[in-house]
Amino acid sequence: MYRSSQDLGRDLLEWYYEHKRSLPWRQTKDPYKIWLSEIILQQTQVKQGQAYYERFVKAFPDVLALANSDVNLVLKLWEGLGYYSRARNLHKAANQVLIDFEGVFPNNYNDLLKLKGVGPYTAAAISSIAYGEKQVVVDGNVIRYMSRLHAIEAPKNSTRSNILVKKAALDQLGALPPGDFNQAMMEFGALHCKVHNPLCMECFASNQCESYLLNKVQDFPRKKKALIKRERFFNYVIVHFHGKIAIAQRTKKDIWQGLNEFLLLEENAKSSVAELEMSLIQKWNLSEKIKLIQDWEIQTLSHQKIYSRFFIVKINASLLDDFKMYNFVSIKDLRKYAYPKSILRFLEKNKLHLK
Ligand code: ADE
Repeated sequence: MYRSSQDLGRDLLEWYYEHKRSLPWRQTKDPYKIWLSEIILQQTQVKQGQAYYERFVKAFPDVLALANSDVNLVLKLWEGLGYYSRARNLHKAANQVLIDFEGVFPNNYNDLLKLKGVGPYTAAAISSIAYGEKQVVVDGNVIRYMSRLHAIEAPKNSTRSNILVKKAALDQLGALPPGDFNQAMMEFGALHCKVHNPLCMECFASNQCESYLLNKVQDFPRKKKALIKRERFFNYVIVHFHGKIAIAQRTKKDIWQGLNEFLLLEENAKSSVAELEMSLIQKWNLSEKIKLIQDWEIQTLSHQKIYSRFFIVKINASLLDDFKMYNFVSIKDLRKYAYPKSILRFLEKNKLHLK
């Protein structure tokens, strides 16, 4: 039997009440905590996201605590999630709440949009879940569910796809509770209408799911043409002096702003170890050979591919002047600072020995 969109919405909500996971942010109506969870979940899966959520709530139980914290602590707690501007925006938005909203979290979609790092998705999620405002969320899970159900040809994340997905979601929402309904769409995408091996055989919508009827579920949502990513080559040199390692915070308007790193020599292409060594020797008249500890590894970001390799070298006092901008820290204290994922991975895999 063919059912209306609103009937499908009701079926979806019923499915949700039966299958939903018990998650910490589902036990609260506190917009601050819901906001935290939504920003974290934009960077990671629910499973890993829970640990980050608990850490944040413990360190910053309310928006004032977050606003008054040191942004470096926020970055440290965010470590490993990537896309660090989200962490900096958390801190900025908390300060906006403090200053522009007199410490009271905004209570509607339009005001939420004024917060740094809060776009239509997050504003819809918070306003619907915390306040019951009639807004629908469009995230990857919702796009997959609706694109399959209606065999939407527009590639995902295109303007047209967003309009069609949003309209389909609003049609199903009808008069249902918006917060639960939004979470139902997302949960359904995560647990049932999955990227791989969706559970079509036991789906309430299969008899009117257009991609299923075409036997083309796996072909939806349609993909955009692959983006060509900029490639960058980072030579990191672990410079040490008297048992301490030089690190510096990235300050330029570039990826990883605010995170720490070793001496970085960036190149446009891969050079040989000998070439790199030559350029360093010319620059610094090094008395000791640099040693390669880890060869090229790739970290893929949304628009860039970062190749990193790691060297180590000991310097003597005559070179210290060149490292005035660096912080010299002991191996024991190294982990107190926040780093990009490539460096963290390196630190986890390699025990550093300073001779
Ligand atoms: N993904 C992001 N936010 C979510 C939520 N509240 N429920 C389920 N999945 C989500």
